Amino acid sequence: MSNRPPFLQSLDLDQPGTRTGTVYLVGAGPGDPELLTLRAARLLGMADVVVYDNLVGKGILDMARPDAERVYVGKQKDNHTLPQQEINALLARLAKQGKQVVRLKGGDPFIFGRGGEELEVLAEEGIRYEVVPGITAASGVSCYTGIPLTHRDYAQSCLFTTGHLKDGSLNLDWEILAHPRQTVVIYMGLGALPEISSKLVEQGRAASTPVAVVEQGTTRRQRVATGTLATIAERVAEQKFKSPCLIIVGEVTQLHDKLQWFAGSVPQLATAVA
Ligand SMILES: C[S@@+](CC[C@H](N)C(=O)[O-])C[C@H]1O[C@@H](n2cnc3c(N)ncnc32)[C@H](O)[C@@H]1O
Repeated sequence: MSNRPPFLQSLDLDQPGTRTGTVYLVGAGPGDPELLTLRAARLLGMADVVVYDNLVGKGILDMARPDAERVYVGKQKDNHTLPQQEINALLARLAKQGKQVVRLKGGDPFIFGRGGEELEVLAEEGIRYEVVPGITAASGVSCYTGIPLTHRDYAQSCLFTTGHLKDGSLNLDWEILAHPRQTVVIYMGLGALPEISSKLVEQGRAASTPVAVVEQGTTRRQRVATGTLATIAERVAEQKFKSPCLIIVGEVTQLHDKLQWFAGSVPQLATAVA
């Protein structure tokens, strides 16, 4: 009988008779390993195989079972180590071999993570799967920069969108994105930042609207550039920001100066409490 607390026992996976192949689609969070969920950490510690891509930090992979097979499947913009179809087939093959597979994805698997595409294939093939949510980049970056995504004085809604469509085009609903009193968070938008800024202004969002761009948020390499729709593209180019970057458009970004607290590391709990 396990003497671990009940909430951990409920995560036991190796009970007799349950050792069939399963794919666990797990969100790894935005970078800081301490932002993993308890369930993600437990699953990493038991998986036979961890299939991961480029937004998953080394500190997180170190939590995998020492003898677990680690398979890097890449995925940087336009540079996929394995094409998506082959990743889907790999997951299905491993599960059919009876392996416990953790498919680890940056952030949350269901937010711009192609998690749905991978699960569709598993569902069609009758393979067991589970999904573990992760902290998406927008939440992680927002908290680690002191930029609340909503605020009663500035933004009553918040919209997540991508600056990189499947066919490479940037055909977004600019009219909706340009509405005032909302925060727009743009994933994968760094390359298109000049176009995004000018389209928003064209559609009526003030050129003076504050914007923040955050590079490698929640990690010790986090950098923040602030400006307005008129100036941000130039600032980011001057400072040579590189992917991964999140763009936050809206008045809430002004709060960064006042509310920022993260200086590259988070105090350990024991130190913070002492
Ligand atoms: C393919 S999407 C994956 C998003 C992920 N599923 C999530 O929920 O955060 C990759 C994009 O997420 C954003 N991103 C992910 N991690 C980030 C981080 N630590 N800092 C800034 N942006 C990040 C960037 O826009 C990056 O290009």
